Amino acid sequence: MTEDYSPKVVGFLCRWCSYTGADLAGAMRLQYPPNIRIIQVPCTGKVDIIHLLQAFEVGADAVFVSGCHEGDCHYVAGNYYARKRVERVKKILKEVGLEPERLEMFHISASEGPKFASVAREMTERACKLGPNPVKVELRAAWLAEQPVATAAAC
Ligand code: FES
Repeated sequence: MTEDYSPKVVGFLCRWCSYTGADLAGAMRLQYPPNIRIIQVPCTGKVDIIHLLQAFEVGADAVFVSGCHEGDCHYVAGNYYARKRVERVKKILKEVGLEPERLEMFHISASEGPKFASVAREMTERACKLGPNPVKVELRAAWLAEQPVATAAAC
């Protein structure tokens, strides 16, 4: 990780399993990078393609979706839909020149606190290895270019 690059990793977590797994990781006082920003969702089936793309658009360096294990979704097939959407967005990322590895799907149950910590470490390491999201870099450069240049007061 470079000195001035601290990656932002967004995790969409199903409230029934993965969010509780993250909670357990905290209760167990497991160490994982503080770069993770969690968005709790009622089921990963509620995470749409546009949500994943917007996360990258607003500056996430890596994004992951984590839900119940296959066959355990409380809404029957939400995690299957989520996996398909993640795969679709990976293709879109590749088409627009971003690394598909910036996005991943995981399955973490409520009792898998250590697995959540491991996933948090893995996604942060990936974001460090891949470097800053180029979309974010370009957005910041465009924003800076639009800012007025401070000038000295005229006499
Ligand atoms: S309820 Fe957890 S993934 Fe659907």
